[in-house]
Amino acid sequence: MKKILLVLMAIVLTFGLVACSSENSSSDQSNISNIYSSSSTPVYTIDGQSVSWNRSANGYRLPTEAEWEYACRAGTTTPFYIPNSPSADDTNFYGHYPYGIEDNYFSQGNLEVKPGVYRQTTVEVGSFSASPWGLYDMYGNVSEWTWDIYGAYPEGEQTDPTGATEGTRRVYRGGGWNDFAKNMRSAYRAMMDQSKGSFNLGIRLVRNAAAGSGNVSGSGEQTTGGSGGKILIAYFSWSGNTRGAAREIQAQTGADIFEITLVHPYSDDYNTVLDEAQRDQNIQARPELSSHVENMADYDTIILGYPNWWASIPMPIASFLEEYDFSGKTIIPFCSHGGGRFGQSITAIEKLVPGAVIGEGLSIHYSGGSTLESDVSEWLDNNGIARN
Ligand SMILES: Cc1cc2nc3c(=O)[nH]c(=O)nc-3n(C[C@H](O)[C@H](O)[C@H](O)COP(=O)(O)O)c2cc1C
Repeated sequence: MKKILLVLMAIVLTFGLVACSSENSSSDQSNISNIYSSSSTPVYTIDGQSVSWNRSANGYRLPTEAEWEYACRAGTTTPFYIPNSPSADDTNFYGHYPYGIEDNYFSQGNLEVKPGVYRQTTVEVGSFSASPWGLYDMYGNVSEWTWDIYGAYPEGEQTDPTGATEGTRRVYRGGGWNDFAKNMRSAYRAMMDQSKGSFNLGIRLVRNAAAGSGNVSGSGEQTTGGSGGKILIAYFSWSGNTRGAAREIQAQTGADIFEITLVHPYSDDYNTVLDEAQRDQNIQARPELSSHVENMADYDTIILGYPNWWASIPMPIASFLEEYDFSGKTIIPFCSHGGGRFGQSITAIEKLVPGAVIGEGLSIHYSGGSTLESDVSEWLDNNGIARN
Protein backbone atom coordinates (compact mmCIF):
# COMPACT_ATOMS: atom_id res chain seq x y z
CA MET A 1 0.00 0.00 0.00
CA LYS A 2 1.27 3.44 -0.85
CA LYS A 3 2.44 5.36 2.17
CA ILE A 4 2.47 9.11 2.07
CA LEU A 5 5.20 10.77 4.02
CA LEU A 6 4.24 14.29 4.97
CA VAL A 7 6.64 16.37 6.94
CA LEU A 8 5.45 19.46 8.69
CA MET A 9 7.88 20.93 11.17
CA ALA A 10 6.31 22.44 14.22
CA ILE A 11 7.83 23.73 17.41
CA VAL A 12 5.98 22.37 20.39
CA LEU A 13 6.41 23.00 24.09
CA THR A 14 5.55 19.99 26.19
CA PHE A 15 1.91 20.70 26.74
CA GLY A 16 2.53 24.41 26.73
CA LEU A 17 2.70 24.90 23.09
CA VAL A 18 3.59 28.07 21.25
CA ALA A 19 4.24 29.29 17.80
CA CYS A 20 4.85 26.92 15.02
CA SER A 21 6.63 27.31 11.79
CA SER A 22 5.75 24.94 9.07
CA GLU A 23 7.40 23.70 6.00
CA ASN A 24 6.46 21.02 3.65
CA SER A 25 8.14 18.36 1.73
CA SER A 26 6.62 15.30 0.22
CA SER A 27 8.54 12.08 0.53
CA ASP A 28 11.74 13.94 -0.26
CA GLN A 29 14.80 12.15 1.12
CA SER A 30 17.01 15.23 1.18
CA ASN A 31 14.61 17.05 3.45
CA ILE A 32 14.43 14.06 5.75
CA SER A 33 18.23 13.89 5.87
CA ASN A 34 18.39 17.57 6.76
CA ILE A 35 16.16 16.93 9.72
CA TYR A 36 18.42 14.21 11.04
CA SER A 37 21.67 16.02 10.39
CA SER A 38 20.59 19.10 12.33
CA SER A 39 22.05 19.67 15.78
CA SER A 40 19.33 17.68 17.49
CA THR A 41 19.73 14.63 19.68
CA PRO A 42 17.82 11.51 18.62
CA VAL A 43 14.58 10.97 20.45
CA TYR A 44 13.85 7.30 19.82
CA THR A 45 15.77 4.11 20.51
CA ILE A 46 14.32 1.22 18.58
CA ASP A 47 14.87 -2.37 19.64
CA GLY A 48 12.96 -4.85 17.51
CA GLN A 49 9.30 -4.01 18.01
CA SER A 50 9.92 -1.78 21.05
CA VAL A 51 10.55 1.94 20.97
CA SER A 52 11.84 4.05 23.82
CA TRP A 53 11.30 7.82 23.76
CA ASN A 54 13.86 9.92 25.58
CA ARG A 55 11.80 12.94 26.53
CA SER A 56 14.80 15.15 27.22
CA ALA A 57 16.14 14.74 23.68
CA ASN A 58 15.47 17.68 21.41
CA GLY A 59 15.25 15.90 18.07
CA TYR A 60 12.21 15.56 15.85
CA ARG A 61 9.51 13.21 17.00
CA LEU A 62 5.81 12.45 16.71
CA PRO A 63 3.52 14.61 18.84
CA THR A 64 1.56 12.94 21.59
CA GLU A 65 -2.17 12.80 21.05
CA ALA A 66 -2.65 15.56 23.64
CA GLU A 67 -0.04 17.77 21.98
CA TRP A 68 -1.66 17.23 18.61
CA GLU A 69 -5.10 18.22 19.88
CA TYR A 70 -3.75 21.17 21.83
CA ALA A 71 -1.99 22.44 18.72
CA CYS A 72 -5.02 21.83 16.54
CA ARG A 73 -7.50 23.53 18.82
CA ALA A 74 -5.49 26.75 18.92
CA GLY A 75 -7.33 27.71 22.07
CA THR A 76 -10.81 26.80 20.79
CA THR A 77 -13.27 24.44 22.45
CA THR A 78 -15.61 24.04 19.46
CA PRO A 79 -15.56 20.97 17.14
CA PHE A 80 -13.22 22.82 14.76
CA TYR A 81 -11.16 26.00 15.07
CA ILE A 82 -13.10 27.02 11.95
CA PRO A 83 -16.66 28.11 12.85
CA ASN A 84 -19.37 25.52 11.98
CA SER A 85 -17.30 23.32 9.70
CA PRO A 86 -14.33 23.41 7.38
CA SER A 87 -15.48 23.76 3.78
CA ALA A 88 -13.74 22.35 0.74
CA ASP A 89 -12.16 25.80 0.35
CA ASP A 90 -10.58 25.47 3.80
CA THR A 91 -9.16 21.99 3.61
CA ASN A 92 -8.88 18.84 1.54
CA PHE A 93 -11.50 16.29 2.62
CA TYR A 94 -14.59 14.49 1.33
CA GLY A 95 -16.03 17.91 0.62
CA HIS A 96 -19.54 16.65 -0.14
CA TYR A 97 -19.89 16.04 3.59
CA PRO A 98 -19.28 19.11 5.77
CA TYR A 99 -20.01 18.88 9.49
CA GLY A 100 -23.73 18.43 10.18
CA ILE A 101 -24.56 17.10 6.70
CA GLU A 102 -25.90 13.88 8.19
CA ASP A 103 -28.81 15.69 9.81
CA ASN A 104 -29.49 17.82 6.75
CA TYR A 105 -28.66 15.49 3.93
CA PHE A 106 -31.83 16.04 1.94
CA SER A 107 -32.90 19.59 2.85
CA GLN A 108 -29.46 21.08 3.52
CA GLY A 109 -31.54 23.94 4.88
CA ASN A 110 -29.79 24.16 8.24
CA LEU A 111 -26.29 23.84 6.89
CA GLU A 112 -24.04 26.84 7.48
CA VAL A 113 -21.39 25.29 5.23
CA LYS A 114 -22.58 23.78 1.95
CA PRO A 115 -21.17 20.67 0.28
CA GLY A 116 -18.16 21.31 -1.92
CA VAL A 117 -15.62 19.54 -4.10
CA TYR A 118 -14.19 16.09 -3.29
CA ARG A 119 -10.66 16.01 -4.70
CA GLN A 120 -10.10 12.27 -4.16
CA THR A 121 -6.36 12.64 -3.57
CA THR A 122 -3.78 14.59 -1.60
CA VAL A 123 -2.86 18.19 -2.46
CA GLU A 124 0.34 20.14 -1.79
CA VAL A 125 0.84 20.90 1.88
CA GLY A 126 0.01 24.55 2.57
CA SER A 127 -2.58 24.88 -0.21
CA PHE A 128 -5.04 26.35 2.30
CA SER A 129 -4.91 28.99 5.03
CA ALA A 130 -3.02 28.22 8.22
CA SER A 131 -4.73 27.71 11.57
CA PRO A 132 -4.84 30.58 14.08
CA TRP A 133 -1.55 29.21 15.43
CA GLY A 134 0.07 29.07 12.01
CA LEU A 135 -0.21 25.34 11.33
CA TYR A 136 -1.19 23.99 7.93
CA ASP A 137 -3.41 21.02 7.15
CA MET A 138 -4.42 20.16 10.70
CA TYR A 139 -7.71 19.00 9.19
CA GLY A 140 -7.77 16.79 6.12
CA ASN A 141 -5.25 16.00 3.37
CA VAL A 142 -3.61 13.20 5.36
CA SER A 143 -4.28 12.01 8.89
CA GLU A 144 -1.25 12.09 11.16
CA TRP A 145 0.17 9.42 13.42
CA THR A 146 0.69 10.38 17.04
CA TRP A 147 2.97 8.67 19.56
CA ASP A 148 0.14 7.38 21.75
CA ILE A 149 -0.92 3.78 21.96
CA TYR A 150 -4.74 3.73 21.86
CA GLY A 151 -6.60 3.23 25.13
CA ALA A 152 -9.29 4.79 27.31
CA TYR A 153 -8.34 8.23 28.58
CA PRO A 154 -7.31 8.17 32.25
CA GLU A 155 -9.66 9.72 34.80
CA GLY A 156 -8.99 13.19 36.08
CA GLU A 157 -6.71 15.98 35.00
CA GLN A 158 -3.50 14.96 33.25
CA THR A 159 -0.28 16.80 32.54
CA ASP A 160 1.61 15.81 29.40
CA PRO A 161 -0.13 12.42 29.04
CA THR A 162 1.59 9.93 26.77
CA GLY A 163 -1.10 7.34 26.13
CA ALA A 164 -1.70 3.73 27.09
CA THR A 165 1.31 1.64 28.09
CA GLU A 166 0.53 -1.51 26.12
CA GLY A 167 -0.91 -2.34 22.74
CA THR A 168 -0.03 -2.24 19.09
CA ARG A 169 -2.65 0.22 17.90
CA ARG A 170 -1.67 3.86 17.77
CA VAL A 171 -3.81 6.93 17.50
CA TYR A 172 -3.88 9.08 14.40
CA ARG A 173 -5.62 12.41 14.10
CA GLY A 174 -6.96 15.08 11.79
CA GLY A 175 -8.65 13.15 9.00
CA GLY A 176 -7.51 12.62 5.43
CA TRP A 177 -8.64 13.51 1.94
CA ASN A 178 -11.42 10.90 1.94
CA ASP A 179 -12.80 11.62 5.41
CA PHE A 180 -16.09 13.30 6.23
CA ALA A 181 -15.78 16.49 8.31
CA LYS A 182 -17.12 14.66 11.37
CA ASN A 183 -13.96 12.54 11.29
CA MET A 184 -11.64 15.56 11.13
CA ARG A 185 -12.91 17.19 14.34
CA SER A 186 -10.24 18.45 16.73
CA ALA A 187 -11.28 15.73 19.21
CA TYR A 188 -11.82 12.78 16.84
CA ARG A 189 -9.60 9.75 17.54
CA ALA A 190 -8.78 7.25 14.85
CA MET A 191 -6.43 4.33 15.36
CA MET A 192 -4.81 1.47 13.56
CA ASP A 193 -2.17 -1.17 14.07
CA GLN A 194 1.20 0.54 14.10
CA SER A 195 2.61 -1.85 11.51
CA LYS A 196 0.17 -0.62 8.85
CA GLY A 197 0.09 2.33 6.50
CA SER A 198 -2.63 3.90 4.40
CA PHE A 199 -3.13 6.07 1.33
CA ASN A 200 -4.32 8.92 3.53
CA LEU A 201 -2.04 8.70 6.55
CA GLY A 202 1.17 10.64 7.16
CA ILE A 203 3.25 12.16 9.92
CA ARG A 204 3.80 15.61 11.39
CA LEU A 205 7.08 16.04 13.18
CA VAL A 206 7.52 18.21 16.25
CA ARG A 207 10.33 19.16 18.64
CA ASN A 208 10.42 19.99 22.32
CA ALA A 209 10.53 23.72 22.83
CA ALA A 210 11.28 23.20 26.52
CA ALA A 211 13.26 20.34 28.00
CA GLY A 212 11.28 17.29 29.03
CA SER A 213 12.48 14.46 31.24
CA GLY A 214 12.24 10.71 31.62
CA ASN A 215 11.60 7.89 29.19
CA VAL A 216 8.43 6.41 27.77
CA SER A 217 8.40 2.99 26.19
CA GLY A 218 6.06 1.57 23.62
CA SER A 219 5.72 -2.18 23.51
CA GLY A 220 5.01 -3.35 20.05
CA GLU A 221 4.43 -7.07 20.01
CA GLN A 222 1.83 -8.04 17.46
CA THR A 223 -1.17 -9.81 18.97
CA THR A 224 -0.85 -13.49 18.18
CA GLY A 225 -2.83 -14.78 15.25
CA GLY A 226 -2.20 -15.02 11.59
CA SER A 227 -3.98 -15.37 8.31
CA GLY A 228 -5.02 -18.81 7.31
CA GLY A 229 -6.34 -21.76 9.30
CA LYS A 230 -10.04 -22.36 8.84
CA ILE A 231 -11.65 -19.42 7.09
CA LEU A 232 -15.16 -17.94 7.24
CA ILE A 233 -16.35 -15.26 4.84
CA ALA A 234 -19.00 -13.24 6.72
CA TYR A 235 -20.75 -10.30 5.09
CA PHE A 236 -23.60 -7.84 5.32
CA SER A 237 -24.99 -6.39 2.11
CA TRP A 238 -27.91 -4.09 1.40
CA SER A 239 -27.99 -3.79 -2.39
CA GLY A 240 -25.85 -6.78 -3.38
CA ASN A 241 -22.38 -5.41 -4.16
CA THR A 242 -20.76 -6.82 -1.03
CA ARG A 243 -22.57 -10.10 -1.62
CA GLY A 244 -21.08 -10.29 -5.11
CA ALA A 245 -17.59 -9.68 -3.75
CA ALA A 246 -18.12 -12.28 -1.02
CA ARG A 247 -19.07 -14.84 -3.64
CA GLU A 248 -15.98 -14.02 -5.66
CA ILE A 249 -13.84 -14.55 -2.56
CA GLN A 250 -15.58 -17.85 -1.92
CA ALA A 251 -15.00 -18.95 -5.50
CA GLN A 252 -11.29 -18.24 -5.11
CA THR A 253 -10.83 -19.77 -1.65
CA GLY A 254 -13.51 -22.40 -1.20
CA ALA A 255 -14.07 -21.01 2.31
CA ASP A 256 -17.38 -21.19 4.18
CA ILE A 257 -19.67 -18.21 3.57
CA PHE A 258 -22.17 -16.59 5.93
CA GLU A 259 -24.61 -13.71 5.40
CA ILE A 260 -25.32 -11.39 8.32
CA THR A 261 -29.08 -10.79 8.26
CA LEU A 262 -31.46 -8.79 10.44
CA VAL A 263 -34.61 -9.56 12.39
CA HIS A 264 -35.88 -6.15 11.24
CA PRO A 265 -34.26 -5.48 7.84
CA TYR A 266 -33.59 -1.95 6.67
CA SER A 267 -36.00 -0.36 4.19
CA ASP A 268 -35.63 -1.25 0.52
CA ASP A 269 -35.96 2.43 -0.34
CA TYR A 270 -32.62 4.20 -0.80
CA ASN A 271 -33.59 7.53 0.76
CA THR A 272 -35.18 5.79 3.72
CA VAL A 273 -32.20 3.53 4.38
CA LEU A 274 -29.91 6.58 4.33
CA ASP A 275 -31.93 7.98 7.24
CA GLU A 276 -32.20 4.65 9.04
CA ALA A 277 -28.48 3.99 8.78
CA GLN A 278 -27.68 7.48 10.03
CA ARG A 279 -30.08 7.10 12.93
CA ASP A 280 -28.50 3.77 13.91
CA GLN A 281 -25.00 5.21 13.70
CA ASN A 282 -25.91 8.25 15.80
CA ILE A 283 -27.30 6.11 18.60
CA GLN A 284 -24.70 3.38 18.09
CA ALA A 285 -27.52 0.86 17.69
CA ARG A 286 -26.92 -2.87 17.73
CA PRO A 287 -29.61 -4.22 15.35
CA GLU A 288 -30.74 -7.71 16.25
CA LEU A 289 -29.34 -10.36 13.94
CA SER A 290 -31.41 -13.24 12.58
CA SER A 291 -28.44 -15.35 11.46
CA HIS A 292 -25.78 -16.79 13.76
CA VAL A 293 -22.55 -18.75 13.35
CA GLU A 294 -22.90 -21.89 15.45
CA ASN A 295 -19.26 -22.96 15.27
CA MET A 296 -17.34 -19.67 15.40
CA ALA A 297 -14.71 -21.31 17.63
CA ASP A 298 -13.68 -23.47 14.64
CA TYR A 299 -12.59 -20.47 12.55
CA ASP A 300 -9.17 -18.81 12.72
CA THR A 301 -9.71 -16.15 10.06
CA ILE A 302 -12.84 -14.15 9.33
CA ILE A 303 -12.99 -12.33 5.99
CA LEU A 304 -15.51 -9.65 6.87
CA GLY A 305 -17.46 -7.74 4.20
CA TYR A 306 -19.74 -4.73 4.47
CA PRO A 307 -20.75 -1.60 2.54
CA ASN A 308 -19.36 1.76 3.64
CA TRP A 309 -22.31 3.46 5.33
CA TRP A 310 -21.89 7.07 6.30
CA ALA A 311 -18.11 6.68 6.29
CA SER A 312 -18.13 3.73 8.68
CA ILE A 313 -19.50 0.21 9.22
CA PRO A 314 -23.23 -0.51 9.09
CA MET A 315 -24.30 -1.12 12.68
CA PRO A 316 -25.18 -4.81 12.02
CA ILE A 317 -21.41 -5.33 11.71
CA ALA A 318 -21.04 -4.03 15.28
CA SER A 319 -23.76 -6.48 16.41
CA PHE A 320 -21.85 -9.29 14.70
CA LEU A 321 -18.47 -8.35 16.14
CA GLU A 322 -19.87 -8.14 19.66
CA GLU A 323 -21.65 -11.51 19.45
CA TYR A 324 -18.50 -13.65 19.35
CA ASP A 325 -15.06 -13.83 20.92
CA PHE A 326 -12.53 -12.87 18.23
CA SER A 327 -9.49 -12.84 20.52
CA GLY A 328 -6.52 -14.26 18.70
CA LYS A 329 -8.42 -14.56 15.43
CA THR A 330 -7.59 -12.63 12.29
CA ILE A 331 -10.21 -10.38 10.72
CA ILE A 332 -9.62 -9.32 7.13
CA PRO A 333 -12.04 -6.57 6.06
CA PHE A 334 -13.41 -5.88 2.61
CA CYS A 335 -15.59 -2.86 2.02
CA SER A 336 -17.78 -1.92 -0.93
CA HIS A 337 -18.13 1.85 -1.24
CA GLY A 338 -19.33 4.68 -3.45
CA GLY A 339 -16.12 6.76 -3.38
CA GLY A 340 -15.18 7.00 0.31
CA ARG A 341 -13.16 3.75 0.35
CA PHE A 342 -13.01 2.43 3.94
CA GLY A 343 -14.02 5.74 5.53
CA GLN A 344 -13.44 5.22 9.24
CA SER A 345 -14.68 1.62 9.15
CA ILE A 346 -11.30 0.08 9.98
CA THR A 347 -10.99 2.23 13.10
CA ALA A 348 -14.55 1.22 14.04
CA ILE A 349 -13.68 -2.48 13.68
CA GLU A 350 -10.39 -2.12 15.56
CA LYS A 351 -12.23 -0.49 18.46
CA LEU A 352 -14.80 -3.31 18.60
CA VAL A 353 -12.36 -6.25 18.54
CA PRO A 354 -9.28 -5.20 20.53
CA GLY A 355 -8.03 -8.80 20.82
CA ALA A 356 -8.11 -9.62 17.10
CA VAL A 357 -5.46 -9.12 14.47
CA ILE A 358 -6.73 -7.01 11.58
CA GLY A 359 -5.42 -8.02 8.17
CA GLU A 360 -4.95 -5.83 5.11
CA GLY A 361 -8.32 -4.60 3.87
CA LEU A 362 -9.71 -4.43 0.35
CA SER A 363 -11.89 -1.50 -0.72
CA ILE A 364 -14.12 -2.16 -3.72
CA HIS A 365 -15.81 0.59 -5.70
CA TYR A 366 -19.46 -0.49 -5.81
CA SER A 367 -19.43 -3.99 -7.42
CA GLY A 368 -15.71 -3.87 -8.25
CA GLY A 369 -16.33 -3.99 -12.02
CA SER A 370 -14.08 -5.89 -14.37
CA THR A 371 -11.07 -5.91 -12.03
CA LEU A 372 -12.85 -7.56 -9.09
CA GLU A 373 -11.43 -11.02 -9.79
CA SER A 374 -7.81 -9.86 -10.08
CA ASP A 375 -8.14 -7.38 -7.20
CA VAL A 376 -9.43 -10.15 -4.96
CA SER A 377 -6.65 -12.53 -6.03
CA GLU A 378 -3.93 -9.98 -5.29
CA TRP A 379 -5.44 -9.07 -1.95
CA LEU A 380 -5.80 -12.72 -0.86
CA ASP A 381 -2.16 -13.29 -1.78
CA ASN A 382 -1.09 -10.22 0.23
CA ASN A 383 -2.90 -11.63 3.25
CA GLY A 384 -1.39 -15.08 2.83
CA ILE A 385 -4.76 -16.69 2.08
CA ALA A 386 -4.45 -19.77 -0.14
CA ARG A 387 -6.42 -19.71 -3.39
CA ASN A 388 -7.87 -22.74 -5.20
C1 LIG B 1 -27.13 4.05 3.97
C2 LIG B 1 -26.02 4.19 2.99
C3 LIG B 1 -24.93 4.98 3.30
C4 LIG B 1 -23.85 5.08 2.42
N1 LIG B 1 -22.77 5.85 2.78
C5 LIG B 1 -21.69 5.86 1.98
C6 LIG B 1 -20.52 6.58 2.36
O1 LIG B 1 -20.48 7.23 3.40
N2 LIG B 1 -19.45 6.55 1.54
C7 LIG B 1 -19.46 5.83 0.37
O2 LIG B 1 -18.44 5.82 -0.30
N3 LIG B 1 -20.55 5.14 -0.02
C8 LIG B 1 -21.64 5.14 0.76
N4 LIG B 1 -22.77 4.43 0.37
C9 LIG B 1 -22.73 3.67 -0.87
C10 LIG B 1 -22.46 2.18 -0.61
O3 LIG B 1 -21.29 2.00 0.17
C11 LIG B 1 -22.26 1.45 -1.92
O4 LIG B 1 -23.39 1.63 -2.73
C12 LIG B 1 -21.99 -0.05 -1.74
O5 LIG B 1 -21.56 -0.60 -2.97
C13 LIG B 1 -23.22 -0.79 -1.28
O6 LIG B 1 -22.90 -2.12 -1.01
P1 LIG B 1 -24.07 -3.24 -0.95
O7 LIG B 1 -24.63 -3.36 -2.35
O8 LIG B 1 -23.36 -4.50 -0.52
O9 LIG B 1 -25.08 -2.81 0.03
C14 LIG B 1 -23.87 4.36 1.21
C15 LIG B 1 -25.00 3.61 0.88
C16 LIG B 1 -26.07 3.52 1.76
C17 LIG B 1 -27.25 2.69 1.40
